[in-house]
Amino acid sequence: MKRYAICGISNRALNMFIKPLLTTFATDNCIVGLLDGDPLRFEVCKQQYPELAVTPIFRPGDFEQMIQETKPDAIIVAGRDDTHVDYIVLGLKYDLEVITEKPMVTTMVDANRVLTAEKLSKGKVVVTFNYRYSPIHRKIKEFIQKGHIGRVTSIDLNWTIDTYHGASYFKRWNRQRDFSGGLSIHKSSHHFDLVNWWIDQNPVQVFAIGDRHYYGENGEHNPSKKDGRHCESCAERQKCSYHMRWSSRGSSTKVKDDHLLESLENTNLYTDYRPDACIFDSGIDIEDTYAAVVKYDQGALLSYSVNFSAPYEGYRLAINGTKGRIETTEYHEPSRIPFPIPMQQTIDYFPLFGSKEIIHVVHTEGGHGGGDPLLLEDLFLGPDPAREYEILAGAKAGAYSIAVGEGVWRSCVENKPYDIKRIDV
Ligand SMILES: NC(=O)c1ccc[n+]([C@@H]2O[C@H](COP(=O)([O-])OP(=O)(O)OC[C@H]3O[C@@H](n4cnc5c(N)ncnc54)[C@H](O)[C@@H]3O)[C@@H](O)[C@H]2O)c1
Repeated sequence: MKRYAICGISNRALNMFIKPLLTTFATDNCIVGLLDGDPLRFEVCKQQYPELAVTPIFRPGDFEQMIQETKPDAIIVAGRDDTHVDYIVLGLKYDLEVITEKPMVTTMVDANRVLTAEKLSKGKVVVTFNYRYSPIHRKIKEFIQKGHIGRVTSIDLNWTIDTYHGASYFKRWNRQRDFSGGLSIHKSSHHFDLVNWWIDQNPVQVFAIGDRHYYGENGEHNPSKKDGRHCESCAERQKCSYHMRWSSRGSSTKVKDDHLLESLENTNLYTDYRPDACIFDSGIDIEDTYAAVVKYDQGALLSYSVNFSAPYEGYRLAINGTKGRIETTEYHEPSRIPFPIPMQQTIDYFPLFGSKEIIHVVHTEGGHGGGDPLLLEDLFLGPDPAREYEILAGAKAGAYSIAVGEGVWRSCVENKPYDIKRIDV
Protein backbone atom coordinates (compact mmCIF):
# COMPACT_ATOMS: atom_id res chain seq x y z
CA MET A 1 0.00 0.00 0.00
CA LYS A 2 1.53 3.32 -1.06
CA ARG A 3 0.99 6.10 1.50
CA TYR A 4 0.28 9.72 0.50
CA ALA A 5 0.10 12.95 2.50
CA ILE A 6 -1.69 15.89 0.87
CA CYS A 7 -0.18 19.37 1.38
CA GLY A 8 -2.82 21.96 0.50
CA ILE A 9 -6.47 20.83 0.63
CA SER A 10 -7.39 22.98 -2.34
CA ASN A 11 -10.27 22.53 -4.70
CA ARG A 12 -7.76 21.00 -7.09
CA ALA A 13 -6.49 18.55 -4.46
CA LEU A 14 -10.04 17.44 -3.64
CA ASN A 15 -11.01 16.71 -7.22
CA MET A 16 -7.83 15.82 -9.05
CA PHE A 17 -5.98 13.75 -6.44
CA ILE A 18 -8.02 12.87 -3.34
CA LYS A 19 -11.05 11.59 -5.25
CA PRO A 20 -9.12 9.20 -7.55
CA LEU A 21 -6.94 8.00 -4.66
CA LEU A 22 -10.11 7.06 -2.77
CA THR A 23 -11.82 5.44 -5.76
CA THR A 24 -10.05 4.29 -8.96
CA PHE A 25 -6.65 3.79 -7.30
CA ALA A 26 -7.77 2.86 -3.78
CA THR A 27 -6.60 -0.77 -3.97
CA ASP A 28 -2.90 0.08 -3.84
CA ASN A 29 -2.90 3.62 -2.42
CA CYS A 30 -4.07 5.37 0.73
CA ILE A 31 -4.11 8.88 2.17
CA VAL A 32 -2.44 9.07 5.59
CA GLY A 33 -2.29 12.82 6.31
CA LEU A 34 -3.87 16.13 5.35
CA LEU A 35 -2.11 19.48 5.74
CA ASP A 36 -3.48 22.99 5.23
CA GLY A 37 -3.30 26.42 6.83
CA ASP A 38 -7.08 26.78 7.00
CA PRO A 39 -8.98 24.47 9.41
CA LEU A 40 -12.18 24.89 7.37
CA ARG A 41 -10.53 23.07 4.46
CA PHE A 42 -10.37 19.88 6.53
CA GLU A 43 -14.10 20.15 7.22
CA VAL A 44 -14.85 20.69 3.52
CA CYS A 45 -12.66 17.70 2.66
CA LYS A 46 -14.08 15.37 5.29
CA GLN A 47 -17.65 16.38 4.42
CA GLN A 48 -17.00 15.49 0.79
CA TYR A 49 -15.02 12.33 1.58
CA PRO A 50 -16.28 10.71 4.81
CA GLU A 51 -13.67 7.96 4.23
CA LEU A 52 -11.13 10.51 5.54
CA ALA A 53 -13.05 11.25 8.76
CA VAL A 54 -10.24 9.98 11.00
CA THR A 55 -7.28 10.87 8.78
CA PRO A 56 -4.90 13.04 10.86
CA ILE A 57 -4.73 16.76 10.04
CA PHE A 58 -1.72 19.04 10.27
CA ARG A 59 -0.98 22.77 10.03
CA PRO A 60 1.82 24.17 7.79
CA GLY A 61 4.37 24.32 10.66
CA ASP A 62 3.79 20.65 11.48
CA PHE A 63 5.06 19.14 8.24
CA GLU A 64 7.95 17.25 9.85
CA GLN A 65 5.67 15.95 12.61
CA MET A 66 3.28 14.74 9.89
CA ILE A 67 6.09 12.86 8.15
CA GLN A 68 7.27 11.23 11.38
CA GLU A 69 3.81 10.24 12.55
CA THR A 70 2.18 9.17 9.27
CA LYS A 71 5.24 7.86 7.38
CA PRO A 72 4.11 8.67 3.84
CA ASP A 73 5.95 7.36 0.77
CA ALA A 74 4.90 10.39 -1.23
CA ILE A 75 3.46 13.87 -0.76
CA ILE A 76 1.08 15.65 -3.10
CA VAL A 77 1.61 19.41 -3.11
CA ALA A 78 -1.52 21.23 -4.25
CA GLY A 79 -1.95 24.36 -2.12
CA ARG A 80 -1.54 27.99 -3.11
CA ASP A 81 1.37 28.29 -5.54
CA ASP A 82 3.73 30.20 -3.22
CA THR A 83 3.39 27.48 -0.57
CA HIS A 84 4.66 24.68 -2.84
CA VAL A 85 8.38 25.27 -2.43
CA ASP A 86 8.68 24.59 1.31
CA TYR A 87 6.83 21.28 1.11
CA ILE A 88 8.75 20.17 -1.97
CA VAL A 89 12.12 20.93 -0.36
CA LEU A 90 11.14 19.30 2.96
CA GLY A 91 9.68 16.28 1.18
CA LEU A 92 12.97 15.84 -0.67
CA LYS A 93 14.86 16.17 2.62
CA TYR A 94 12.96 13.07 3.77
CA ASP A 95 13.72 11.27 0.46
CA LEU A 96 10.05 11.22 -0.49
CA GLU A 97 8.46 11.16 -3.89
CA VAL A 98 6.99 14.63 -4.42
CA ILE A 99 4.06 15.14 -6.77
CA THR A 100 3.35 18.83 -7.22
CA GLU A 101 0.75 20.84 -9.07
CA LYS A 102 1.95 23.39 -11.55
CA PRO A 103 3.49 25.89 -11.21
CA MET A 104 6.16 23.95 -9.34
CA VAL A 105 7.12 27.20 -7.56
CA THR A 106 6.63 30.91 -8.25
CA THR A 107 10.20 32.22 -8.73
CA MET A 108 13.50 31.03 -10.19
CA VAL A 109 15.10 31.48 -6.75
CA ASP A 110 12.67 28.85 -5.45
CA ALA A 111 13.11 26.65 -8.54
CA ASN A 112 16.84 26.55 -7.80
CA ARG A 113 16.10 25.57 -4.19
CA VAL A 114 14.10 22.61 -5.51
CA LEU A 115 16.79 21.59 -8.03
CA THR A 116 19.49 21.68 -5.32
CA ALA A 117 17.33 19.73 -2.86
CA GLU A 118 16.57 17.09 -5.47
CA LYS A 119 20.30 16.57 -6.20
CA LEU A 120 20.84 15.73 -2.51
CA SER A 121 17.78 13.49 -2.21
CA LYS A 122 16.78 9.95 -3.08
CA GLY A 123 13.33 11.42 -3.75
CA LYS A 124 12.11 12.83 -7.06
CA VAL A 125 9.80 15.62 -8.09
CA VAL A 126 6.95 15.13 -10.56
CA VAL A 127 5.14 18.21 -11.86
CA THR A 128 1.59 17.41 -12.97
CA PHE A 129 1.50 19.21 -16.31
CA ASN A 130 -1.83 17.75 -17.38
CA TYR A 131 -1.94 19.69 -20.68
CA ARG A 132 0.77 17.36 -22.00
CA TYR A 133 -1.65 14.44 -21.82
CA SER A 134 -4.45 15.70 -24.10
CA PRO A 135 -4.65 13.55 -27.25
CA ILE A 136 -3.92 16.50 -29.57
CA HIS A 137 -0.90 17.53 -27.52
CA ARG A 138 0.49 13.99 -27.44
CA LYS A 139 -0.02 13.68 -31.19
CA ILE A 140 1.95 16.91 -31.79
CA LYS A 141 4.78 15.55 -29.63
CA GLU A 142 4.83 12.24 -31.53
CA PHE A 143 4.58 13.96 -34.91
CA ILE A 144 7.54 16.24 -34.26
CA GLN A 145 9.55 13.42 -32.70
CA LYS A 146 9.04 11.28 -35.81
CA GLY A 147 10.60 14.07 -37.88
CA HIS A 148 7.60 14.94 -40.05
CA ILE A 149 8.28 18.67 -39.89
CA GLY A 150 12.07 18.34 -39.58
CA ARG A 151 14.02 20.52 -37.14
CA VAL A 152 11.68 23.01 -35.47
CA THR A 153 12.51 26.59 -36.41
CA SER A 154 9.58 28.67 -35.15
CA ILE A 155 6.35 28.44 -33.20
CA ASP A 156 3.37 30.81 -33.09
CA LEU A 157 1.13 30.31 -30.08
CA ASN A 158 -1.72 32.68 -29.26
CA TRP A 159 -3.85 31.83 -26.27
CA THR A 160 -7.12 33.52 -25.26
CA ILE A 161 -8.86 32.94 -21.92
CA ASP A 162 -12.53 33.89 -21.85
CA THR A 163 -14.15 36.43 -19.52
CA TYR A 164 -15.53 33.63 -17.35
CA HIS A 165 -12.28 31.81 -16.71
CA GLY A 166 -10.00 34.86 -17.08
CA ALA A 167 -11.98 36.88 -14.52
CA SER A 168 -11.75 33.98 -12.03
CA TYR A 169 -8.02 34.61 -11.64
CA PHE A 170 -8.74 38.21 -10.66
CA LYS A 171 -11.28 37.24 -8.00
CA ARG A 172 -8.99 34.93 -6.07
CA TRP A 173 -5.48 34.76 -4.53
CA ASN A 174 -4.08 34.31 -8.04
CA ARG A 175 -4.39 38.08 -8.55
CA GLN A 176 -1.41 38.77 -6.29
CA ARG A 177 2.05 38.15 -7.64
CA ASP A 178 3.37 37.11 -4.23
CA PHE A 179 0.93 34.21 -4.19
CA SER A 180 0.88 33.10 -7.84
CA GLY A 181 3.95 34.56 -9.51
CA GLY A 182 1.59 36.43 -11.88
CA LEU A 183 -0.19 34.82 -14.81
CA SER A 184 2.97 34.46 -16.91
CA ILE A 185 3.93 31.85 -14.29
CA HIS A 186 0.64 30.68 -12.79
CA LYS A 187 -1.06 30.08 -16.15
CA SER A 188 1.45 30.49 -18.97
CA SER A 189 3.88 28.00 -17.39
CA HIS A 190 1.46 25.37 -18.75
CA HIS A 191 1.88 26.82 -22.25
CA PHE A 192 5.65 27.26 -22.00
CA ASP A 193 6.05 23.70 -20.75
CA LEU A 194 4.07 22.39 -23.72
CA VAL A 195 6.30 24.21 -26.20
CA ASN A 196 9.53 23.20 -24.39
CA TRP A 197 8.36 19.57 -24.35
CA TRP A 198 7.04 19.47 -27.93
CA ILE A 199 10.17 20.84 -29.52
CA ASP A 200 12.64 19.29 -27.05
CA GLN A 201 14.76 22.43 -26.93
CA ASN A 202 15.70 24.57 -23.93
CA PRO A 203 14.70 28.25 -23.74
CA VAL A 204 17.65 30.65 -23.49
CA GLN A 205 16.27 34.18 -23.84
CA VAL A 206 12.93 35.98 -23.44
CA PHE A 207 11.74 39.40 -24.45
CA ALA A 208 8.21 40.47 -23.59
CA ILE A 209 5.77 43.28 -23.08
CA GLY A 210 2.76 43.03 -20.79
CA ASP A 211 0.02 45.17 -19.37
CA ARG A 212 -3.22 45.21 -17.39
CA HIS A 213 -5.97 46.35 -19.74
CA TYR A 214 -9.17 44.88 -18.30
CA TYR A 215 -8.98 44.27 -14.57
CA GLY A 216 -8.00 46.46 -11.61
CA GLU A 217 -9.45 49.85 -10.70
CA ASN A 218 -8.84 51.35 -14.14
CA GLY A 219 -10.60 48.52 -15.99
CA GLU A 220 -12.78 50.06 -18.69
CA HIS A 221 -15.86 48.11 -17.52
CA ASN A 222 -15.53 48.99 -13.82
CA PRO A 223 -18.97 50.33 -12.75
CA SER A 224 -17.31 52.58 -10.15
CA LYS A 225 -13.97 52.94 -8.40
CA LYS A 226 -14.63 51.30 -5.07
CA ASP A 227 -12.56 48.68 -3.28
CA GLY A 228 -13.69 45.65 -1.30
CA ARG A 229 -16.76 44.54 -3.27
CA HIS A 230 -17.64 40.85 -3.61
CA CYS A 231 -19.79 39.47 -6.43
CA GLU A 232 -22.28 37.75 -4.15
CA SER A 233 -23.18 40.92 -2.24
CA CYS A 234 -22.23 43.60 -4.78
CA ALA A 235 -24.85 46.34 -5.20
CA GLU A 236 -23.46 47.15 -8.64
CA ARG A 237 -23.31 43.68 -10.10
CA GLN A 238 -26.08 44.40 -12.61
CA LYS A 239 -23.85 47.14 -13.99
CA CYS A 240 -20.87 44.77 -14.21
CA SER A 241 -20.47 43.36 -17.72
CA TYR A 242 -18.30 40.48 -16.49
CA HIS A 243 -20.97 39.41 -13.97
CA MET A 244 -23.91 39.84 -16.31
CA ARG A 245 -22.23 38.00 -19.19
CA TRP A 246 -22.56 34.80 -17.15
CA SER A 247 -25.61 35.54 -14.97
CA SER A 248 -29.19 36.69 -15.13
CA ARG A 249 -30.73 39.52 -13.13
CA GLY A 250 -32.58 37.09 -10.87
CA SER A 251 -30.78 36.73 -7.56
CA SER A 252 -31.10 32.93 -7.72
CA THR A 253 -28.51 32.78 -10.53
CA LYS A 254 -24.92 33.42 -9.53
CA VAL A 255 -21.76 33.72 -11.53
CA LYS A 256 -20.37 30.21 -11.53
CA ASP A 257 -16.74 29.85 -10.71
CA ASP A 258 -14.78 26.95 -12.19
CA HIS A 259 -12.82 26.75 -9.00
CA LEU A 260 -15.67 26.20 -6.55
CA LEU A 261 -17.13 22.84 -5.66
CA GLU A 262 -20.58 22.75 -7.19
CA SER A 263 -22.19 20.82 -4.35
CA LEU A 264 -20.86 23.26 -1.79
CA GLU A 265 -21.24 26.46 -3.74
CA ASN A 266 -23.50 28.10 -1.20
CA THR A 267 -21.45 27.39 1.88
CA ASN A 268 -18.28 28.96 3.20
CA LEU A 269 -15.33 27.11 1.82
CA TYR A 270 -12.42 29.10 3.23
CA THR A 271 -11.80 31.06 6.46
CA ASP A 272 -10.89 34.74 6.08
CA TYR A 273 -10.89 34.52 2.30
CA ARG A 274 -13.54 34.79 -0.39
CA PRO A 275 -13.00 33.58 -3.93
CA ASP A 276 -15.42 36.18 -5.37
CA ALA A 277 -13.50 39.41 -4.69
CA CYS A 278 -14.05 42.23 -7.15
CA ILE A 279 -12.04 42.01 -10.35
CA PHE A 280 -11.72 45.82 -10.26
CA ASP A 281 -10.00 46.07 -6.85
CA SER A 282 -7.02 48.41 -6.76
CA GLY A 283 -4.82 45.83 -4.99
CA ILE A 284 -4.57 43.62 -8.10
CA ASP A 285 -0.92 43.64 -9.12
CA ILE A 286 -0.67 41.21 -12.06
CA GLU A 287 -0.95 41.71 -15.82
CA ASP A 288 -3.79 40.39 -18.01
CA THR A 289 -2.14 40.67 -21.45
CA TYR A 290 1.30 39.60 -22.68
CA ALA A 291 3.20 39.38 -25.95
CA ALA A 292 6.54 37.57 -25.82
CA VAL A 293 9.30 36.12 -27.95
CA VAL A 294 11.49 33.27 -26.74
CA LYS A 295 14.73 31.98 -28.25
CA TYR A 296 15.73 28.31 -27.86
CA ASP A 297 19.15 26.68 -27.64
CA GLN A 298 18.79 24.83 -30.96
CA GLY A 299 17.59 27.92 -32.77
CA ALA A 300 13.81 27.76 -32.54
CA LEU A 301 11.92 31.02 -31.96
CA LEU A 302 8.59 31.18 -30.12
CA SER A 303 6.16 34.00 -30.68
CA TYR A 304 3.58 33.88 -27.85
CA SER A 305 0.66 35.97 -26.73
CA VAL A 306 -2.02 35.55 -24.10
CA ASN A 307 -5.10 37.58 -23.23
CA PHE A 308 -7.17 36.92 -20.10
CA SER A 309 -10.36 38.73 -21.11
CA ALA A 310 -11.45 37.31 -24.44
CA PRO A 311 -14.94 36.60 -25.86
CA TYR A 312 -14.08 32.91 -26.16
CA GLU A 313 -11.38 30.54 -24.93
CA GLY A 314 -8.82 28.55 -26.89
CA TYR A 315 -5.58 28.83 -28.82
CA ARG A 316 -4.10 29.01 -32.28
CA LEU A 317 -0.86 27.14 -32.80
CA ALA A 318 1.50 26.81 -35.74
CA ILE A 319 4.85 25.02 -35.63
CA ASN A 320 7.28 25.42 -38.54
CA GLY A 321 10.17 23.10 -39.26
CA THR A 322 12.75 22.50 -41.97
CA LYS A 323 10.41 19.93 -43.60
CA GLY A 324 6.93 21.31 -43.01
CA ARG A 325 4.41 23.01 -40.80
CA ILE A 326 1.55 21.99 -38.54
CA GLU A 327 -1.40 24.13 -37.50
CA THR A 328 -4.22 23.58 -35.05
CA THR A 329 -6.91 25.65 -33.35
CA GLU A 330 -8.53 24.76 -30.07
CA TYR A 331 -11.92 26.08 -28.96
CA HIS A 332 -12.07 25.38 -25.26
CA GLU A 333 -15.28 24.74 -23.32
CA PRO A 334 -17.75 24.68 -26.26
CA SER A 335 -20.63 25.32 -23.83
CA ARG A 336 -19.22 28.81 -23.26
CA ILE A 337 -18.74 29.66 -26.94
CA PRO A 338 -21.76 31.44 -28.46
CA PHE A 339 -21.10 30.59 -32.12
CA PRO A 340 -20.63 27.39 -34.18
CA ILE A 341 -17.24 25.73 -33.83
CA PRO A 342 -15.74 22.58 -35.39
CA MET A 343 -16.93 19.38 -33.69
CA GLN A 344 -13.41 18.03 -33.15
CA GLN A 345 -9.99 19.63 -33.02
CA THR A 346 -7.72 18.34 -35.82
CA ILE A 347 -4.13 19.07 -36.86
CA ASP A 348 -3.35 20.35 -40.37
CA TYR A 349 -0.02 19.12 -41.73
CA PHE A 350 1.61 20.99 -44.60
CA PRO A 351 4.80 19.27 -45.83
CA LEU A 352 7.20 21.84 -47.26
CA PHE A 353 6.85 20.22 -50.70
CA GLY A 354 3.62 18.23 -50.94
CA SER A 355 -0.06 18.16 -50.26
CA LYS A 356 -1.85 19.02 -47.04
CA GLU A 357 -3.05 16.27 -44.69
CA ILE A 358 -5.57 16.51 -41.86
CA ILE A 359 -4.81 14.49 -38.74
CA HIS A 360 -7.64 13.28 -36.52
CA VAL A 361 -6.91 12.02 -33.04
CA VAL A 362 -8.73 9.57 -30.81
CA HIS A 363 -10.47 11.20 -27.87
CA THR A 364 -11.34 9.10 -24.84
CA GLU A 365 -13.40 9.62 -21.70
CA GLY A 366 -12.23 12.08 -19.04
CA GLY A 367 -11.01 15.66 -18.74
CA HIS A 368 -8.78 17.22 -21.39
CA GLY A 369 -9.99 14.83 -24.12
CA GLY A 370 -9.11 11.83 -22.02
CA GLY A 371 -5.74 13.20 -20.94
CA ASP A 372 -6.44 13.51 -17.20
CA PRO A 373 -7.11 9.77 -16.61
CA LEU A 374 -3.82 8.92 -18.37
CA LEU A 375 -1.90 11.35 -16.16
CA LEU A 376 -3.50 9.81 -13.07
CA GLU A 377 -2.57 6.30 -14.22
CA ASP A 378 1.04 7.40 -14.78
CA LEU A 379 1.08 8.95 -11.30
CA PHE A 380 -0.58 6.16 -9.37
CA LEU A 381 0.20 3.02 -11.41
CA GLY A 382 3.62 4.14 -12.70
CA PRO A 383 4.59 5.48 -16.16
CA ASP A 384 3.06 3.57 -19.07
CA PRO A 385 5.90 1.27 -20.29
CA ALA A 386 4.42 1.23 -23.82
CA ARG A 387 4.88 4.98 -24.35
CA GLU A 388 7.88 5.80 -26.50
CA TYR A 389 8.70 9.21 -25.02
CA GLU A 390 8.87 10.85 -21.62
CA ILE A 391 5.71 12.61 -20.61
CA LEU A 392 5.76 12.92 -16.82
CA ALA A 393 7.56 16.19 -16.12
CA GLY A 394 10.29 16.48 -13.51
CA ALA A 395 11.84 19.38 -11.64
CA LYS A 396 13.98 20.44 -14.61
CA ALA A 397 10.93 20.89 -16.87
CA GLY A 398 9.11 22.58 -13.99
CA ALA A 399 12.02 25.01 -13.60
CA TYR A 400 12.31 25.80 -17.34
CA SER A 401 8.61 26.65 -17.47
CA ILE A 402 9.08 29.03 -14.52
CA ALA A 403 12.19 30.50 -16.14
CA VAL A 404 10.24 31.53 -19.25
CA GLY A 405 7.32 32.82 -17.14
CA GLU A 406 9.57 34.84 -14.86
CA GLY A 407 11.51 36.03 -17.90
CA VAL A 408 8.28 37.32 -19.46
CA TRP A 409 7.43 39.34 -16.37
CA ARG A 410 10.97 40.61 -15.70
CA SER A 411 11.43 41.59 -19.32
CA CYS A 412 8.17 43.60 -19.16
CA VAL A 413 9.23 45.39 -16.00
CA GLU A 414 12.87 45.95 -16.94
CA ASN A 415 12.24 46.55 -20.65
CA LYS A 416 15.15 44.35 -21.69
CA PRO A 417 15.75 40.71 -22.67
CA TYR A 418 15.94 38.15 -19.86
CA ASP A 419 18.61 35.46 -20.17
CA ILE A 420 17.80 31.97 -18.93
CA LYS A 421 20.65 30.05 -17.35
CA ARG A 422 21.17 26.48 -18.51
CA ILE A 423 19.76 23.94 -16.07
CA ASP A 424 21.94 20.85 -15.66
CA VAL A 425 20.58 17.94 -13.66
N1 LIG B 1 -3.12 21.80 -13.58
C1 LIG B 1 -4.23 22.49 -13.60
O1 LIG B 1 -4.93 22.51 -14.61
C2 LIG B 1 -4.65 23.26 -12.38
C3 LIG B 1 -5.95 23.74 -12.26
C4 LIG B 1 -6.31 24.44 -11.10
C5 LIG B 1 -5.38 24.64 -10.08
N2 LIG B 1 -4.12 24.15 -10.24
C6 LIG B 1 -3.13 24.36 -9.15
O2 LIG B 1 -3.61 23.70 -7.99
C7 LIG B 1 -3.24 24.43 -6.84
C8 LIG B 1 -4.47 24.77 -6.03
O3 LIG B 1 -5.29 25.68 -6.76
P1 LIG B 1 -6.83 25.90 -6.37
O4 LIG B 1 -7.34 26.96 -7.25
O5 LIG B 1 -7.52 24.60 -6.35
O6 LIG B 1 -6.65 26.49 -4.90
P2 LIG B 1 -7.72 26.80 -3.75
O7 LIG B 1 -7.87 28.29 -3.69
O8 LIG B 1 -8.92 25.96 -3.85
O9 LIG B 1 -6.92 26.33 -2.46
C9 LIG B 1 -5.69 26.83 -2.04
C10 LIG B 1 -5.40 26.09 -0.76
O10 LIG B 1 -4.11 26.43 -0.29
C11 LIG B 1 -4.24 26.51 1.12
N3 LIG B 1 -3.10 27.16 1.72
C12 LIG B 1 -2.84 28.48 1.85
N4 LIG B 1 -1.68 28.65 2.49
C13 LIG B 1 -1.19 27.39 2.78
C14 LIG B 1 -0.02 26.91 3.41
N5 LIG B 1 0.92 27.73 3.90
N6 LIG B 1 0.17 25.58 3.49
C15 LIG B 1 -0.75 24.73 2.98
N7 LIG B 1 -1.87 25.12 2.38
C16 LIG B 1 -2.09 26.45 2.27
C17 LIG B 1 -5.56 27.22 1.32
O11 LIG B 1 -6.02 27.13 2.66
C18 LIG B 1 -6.41 26.43 0.35
O12 LIG B 1 -6.90 25.25 0.94
C19 LIG B 1 -2.48 25.66 -7.31
O13 LIG B 1 -1.11 25.39 -7.28
C20 LIG B 1 -2.95 25.81 -8.74
O14 LIG B 1 -2.00 26.46 -9.55
C21 LIG B 1 -3.75 23.47 -11.33
